[in-house]
Amino acid sequence: MELQTFETYLSVNERQIKDKMVVIIDTLRATSVITTALYNGAKEVIPVAEIEEAVNFVKNFGREGYLLGGERNTFKIDGFDLSNSPLEYTKEVVQGKTVILTTTNGTRALKKVSANDDVILGCLLNAGSIAEYIAQRNKDVAIVCSGTEGKFSIDDIVTAGVIFDKLNKYLDFDSDDLTKASYQLYKPFSNDITKIIELGTHYKNLKKQGFDKDLEFCLSIDKYNIIPRYKDGVVRVIADF
Ligand code: MLT
Repeated sequence: MELQTFETYLSVNERQIKDKMVVIIDTLRATSVITTALYNGAKEVIPVAEIEEAVNFVKNFGREGYLLGGERNTFKIDGFDLSNSPLEYTKEVVQGKTVILTTTNGTRALKKVSANDDVILGCLLNAGSIAEYIAQRNKDVAIVCSGTEGKFSIDDIVTAGVIFDKLNKYLDFDSDDLTKASYQLYKPFSNDITKIIELGTHYKNLKKQGFDKDLEFCLSIDKYNIIPRYKDGVVRVIADF
């Protein structure tokens, strides 16, 4: 089995991920938001790339049972129910609902790999479960970091390093240089990952905007034991994991 890591979704093409299981990572904050929403009982999350698509969706299907969530420039979108803060996706708010989500990087990364029918979503909150699931499946894996505005993002690559570390406990595997580098970047900070992630541009930006609580939340490891799976345009929890 081999693990390959892509620094952003922009560097991925269909051929490279064909026949592989894809793990999309956007630790700050889209995959953390989706994982939290599903853990708290949202029925499903439908990622869309553009605001208009989200708005048209509820125009066609009505607001009953649906929540519009996401961000532009890290802030809530006008007319939407929820922002891109995982702390807003509580059980009381999301249980039984379909969340239509649009974010700057994470939902676009998902759209980019939508031709692949074996896509799961990872973040620090479910890193241990992702490693366990990869070990169970024993299939080649492409880890696709969402990045930030087309650039490499430390939070995503450190998350890949955490998954590498956890996976190592289950089995031996091959990996490409970026996967190995992700582990080497993470390893010296394994007792306090904030110390490395806080150097990143996206972390600094969210901190500057006052999202301290989101940062603390998204940087907790193994809070949840679910695997969100993206299939046919919808993210749902894998029921038999
Ligand atoms: C994204 O998907 O672009 C991010 O989640 C942005 C953010 O942190 O709000």
